[in-house]
Amino acid sequence: MDKCDKIGIFDSGIGGATVLKEILKILPKEEFIYYSDSKNNPYGNKSREEIIQISKNIVEYFIEEKCKIIIIACNTASAIAVETLRKEYPQMTFIAIEPAYKMIHDYVPQETTLVMATKGTIQSEKFNNLYNKYNNYKTYLLPCVGLADIIEQGRIKDINSYLEENLKQYKGKIKNVVLGCTHYPLIKKQIKDVLGEVKFFDGAHSLAIHLKKVLEQNNLLNEGSGEIQFIDSSKNKEKEKRFFEYLSYCLE
Ligand code: DGL
Repeated sequence: MDKCDKIGIFDSGIGGATVLKEILKILPKEEFIYYSDSKNNPYGNKSREEIIQISKNIVEYFIEEKCKIIIIACNTASAIAVETLRKEYPQMTFIAIEPAYKMIHDYVPQETTLVMATKGTIQSEKFNNLYNKYNNYKTYLLPCVGLADIIEQGRIKDINSYLEENLKQYKGKIKNVVLGCTHYPLIKKQIKDVLGEVKFFDGAHSLAIHLKKVLEQNNLLNEGSGEIQFIDSSKNKEKEKRFFEYLSYCLE
């Protein structure tokens, strides 16, 4: 049987670079196929059925490419589709990102917190289970409709005015921000410009640690070249350039 050492990783676009960079810090010799599904971006406002179908198509592609494991580097797809994917592809292991709300409970349980995520994530059953389990009753939930989309397109002015309009009501009220969408760590500075000094939490580092553990347990660790193959579903060359720019910016 053909063996493949590759790890498949996907997001609705290039935001998943923020997850990949955490993985690269602890698994620099793994080989990756990064699938940027910009043709279907944004996922955040899509129906459950659409997100499941889109995710299944990408999983089929990774299976064809004989990936050994799949990372869902999109909170929305994780929240909505991972359970179905695990049921329908029992032979495959899925590692799924989720908003780092448990970290608030573990590290700063008394502090006021803002959770920013897509509407799809905030409304999902998976996120609501997490939220109800760790609720500190000092948390605001903010569905950021359209934000991932303008980050994906790199529309800096629109990002700034979006944040100004939607975050200014929280200025001075919160200490922590959970970045519940993998695109949002790319705009930490702009968020701080509106909110002032806040601490950020996202799930990428915990995901990377978990991934390493799963690979070790299954004897799947690779001492390869660290190659990253980038695929974009809308075949947009500009995406590839920005993805690698983000990756090096994240790794600084
Ligand atoms: N990066 C995706 C997430 O983490 C963006 C969702 C979207 O495309 O709306 O949720």
